[in-house]
Amino acid sequence: MTLLETSELTKSFGRMVAVDRVDLAVREGELTAVIGPNGAGKTTLFNVVTGKLRPTAGQVRFRGEDITGLPPHAVIRRGIGRSFQVTNLFPELPVFDSLRVAVLSHLRLTGQVLPTHRGARAAAGEAEQLLRELGLEAHGGRLCGTLSHADQRAVEIGLALAGRPRLLLLDEPTAGMGLEETAAMVRMMHGLAHRNGLTVVLVEHDMDVVFALAERIVVMHQGRIIADGPPESVRDNPGVREAYLGEPGAGR
Ligand SMILES: Nc1ncnc2c1ncn2[C@@H]1O[C@H](COP(=O)(O)OP(=O)(O)OP(=O)(O)O)[C@@H](O)[C@H]1O
Ligand SMILES: [Mg+2]
Repeated sequence: MTLLETSELTKSFGRMVAVDRVDLAVREGELTAVIGPNGAGKTTLFNVVTGKLRPTAGQVRFRGEDITGLPPHAVIRRGIGRSFQVTNLFPELPVFDSLRVAVLSHLRLTGQVLPTHRGARAAAGEAEQLLRELGLEAHGGRLCGTLSHADQRAVEIGLALAGRPRLLLLDEPTAGMGLEETAAMVRMMHGLAHRNGLTVVLVEHDMDVVFALAERIVVMHQGRIIADGPPESVRDNPGVREAYLGEPGAGR
């Protein structure tokens, strides 16, 4: 089943067409990687899907509903969560509290709990579960700002998960990580991809990560999708090699 579908989705900045008539269908349960050189339009695509930016033209449908141009909070409420390319946490807040507050505000916003002790306990329980899932059990009491870069990225994914998304968009989750940290992030994403009812779309430059995880690869170049299919077919696609894999710095 198609979870997310864009048709002719376009975002221009003045004369620059960052996302150019993109037709993308994300199937439920399939881990999709979006790749492409710097400036290809990957982050902008996420931004127009999640309501951070309004598209210039085209449509976004999620679970059959037209969500084009909805503001971010309305998109989140419908079940799309995301992480950002740059870190984005409250450095002075402990990890556990960050997650707990995120869960609680989601439960309240969606009318699932009232501001009561019971609601607060439910949120704390869910935050504990997220800590375990993210491999952060030992760090719950630490201030976010004191965590390693890799653990901060994990907390950010936890904040997105606190909204109980059906679709999780991750923008370069392994950027700036060493080999071991990257391997840990890959294990975590593998777990997320098999989480009940969650579909993951990943923007990633590290081809080892892409080929370790992706069931499907979408290649963007100059705002357009130039290839879309299973990893083997994309790897062997000459247009992709030319546009992307052969470029200096493509594997950063
Ligand atoms: N807010 C903005 N205003 C003007 N131009 C923008 C804006 N955001 C992105 N762009 C331009 O749109 C194009 C696509 O950028 P985008 O950030 O989507 O690329 P990307 O594929 O995510 O690249 P990277 O791999 O470097 O993260 C680039 O030319 C960029 O300079
Ligand atoms: Mg980007």
